[in-house]
Amino acid sequence: MGVVEISSFSALCSAKLNGARPPICSFDGSQRRVVAMASTVDVQHLSEANQKLTGDSFIRPHLRKLSPYQPILPFEVLSTRLGRKPEDIIKLDANENPYGPPPEVFEALGSMKFPYIYPDPESRRLRAALAVDSGLEADYILAGCGADELIDLIMRCVLDPGDKILDCPPTFTMYEFDAAVNGAHVVKVPRKPDFSLNVELIADAVEKENPKCIFLTSPNNPDGSIIGDEDLIKILKLPVLVVLDEAYIEFSGIESRMKWVKKYENLIVLRTFSKRAALAGLRVGYGAFPLSIIEYLWRAKQPYNVSVAAEVAACAALQNPTYLEDVKDALVRERERLFKLLMGVPFLNPYPSHSNFILCEVTSGMDAKMLKEDLAKMGVMIRHYNNKEMKGYVRVSVGKPEHTDVLMDGLSRISQ
Ligand SMILES: Cc1ncc(COP(=O)(O)O)c(C=O)c1O
Repeated sequence: MGVVEISSFSALCSAKLNGARPPICSFDGSQRRVVAMASTVDVQHLSEANQKLTGDSFIRPHLRKLSPYQPILPFEVLSTRLGRKPEDIIKLDANENPYGPPPEVFEALGSMKFPYIYPDPESRRLRAALAVDSGLEADYILAGCGADELIDLIMRCVLDPGDKILDCPPTFTMYEFDAAVNGAHVVKVPRKPDFSLNVELIADAVEKENPKCIFLTSPNNPDGSIIGDEDLIKILKLPVLVVLDEAYIEFSGIESRMKWVKKYENLIVLRTFSKRAALAGLRVGYGAFPLSIIEYLWRAKQPYNVSVAAEVAACAALQNPTYLEDVKDALVRERERLFKLLMGVPFLNPYPSHSNFILCEVTSGMDAKMLKEDLAKMGVMIRHYNNKEMKGYVRVSVGKPEHTDVLMDGLSRISQ
């Protein structure tokens, strides 16, 4: 198969093709792109072959092995299932920000002037605002449809099928998922029992396995631990591209490492509007990249990856830094209160967190999955993990004080 660029469509479509099937012609703007199938199989043969084909035979082999995606239940579906109005569900299972975005966001979305025009492929307004917010020039910044999109985009730019990535579980599962979609192998260097990184084993694995990139998360999801400068610098000295995911950095009290991309050619830092600015539903993330890397992401990204609404909302959120700061402070205060309360629950062992969630080991013979299900029946959603390593844990997102009160009430009813 090949792509031939031609300027005269009719000339090609009337050309003699020596018995081969005619090309499938598709239109792409003013130039015509013709996908010419280099096949000389005769029609009868082809239809016999077609009868044996099933749809999945067209799918790339590595994707056929992919486990089916487990979608989360949309809020409305959840509400029907639980027999409760969405407002009566306490959603502490996805680290969303229950305060919502600043009022400027609703105003800006309501008065959007050009929703019928394609968005700016370079998200210039947003990147300029982010430069002011982060202190890093816009040239180093690229925005995406959530940090999720950027994780996939980085992999598409960096990985050949069969390449390896290094992952440090337990951590955000999208790294493993996107690696599988991109045909890469995942080398795992599990975290220590306190969830800190095992830097020595990471160095060994880089030497022996030669991964292209490593995904690090600070604060880490699900436990909320952070990576100190010393460990990060040791890892940055290894011959591997370091993708540092700072989705929750605002709750940690430590400064973002976005500016480090000017110093380290092998560092990418990812951030998001989903948590701090409560825009999870609008899908806006961004990354800081060395200039030698960012130019390739510009070439490979979808042109309109950040919608007009997403850019408008993100810019409006940045116009009210006081609101963002106040909401962050309220969540951090509530995290501390929630942590103390969880410490008092006889069957939970909470881990100190630098983020907007708290991981708890479920102890004293209590089943973590049942705990999640019992709370769900009371309208309180928390996160439970299906995998072997984490099945005895639950993660609770930090909500408003009244959410903590309902959660604690539910937990005390369960313990009776
Ligand atoms: C560590 C981490 N990175 C990235 C994301 C996704 O961010 P976004 O909503 O911007 O795609 C999440 C979402 O929960 C996360 O936990």
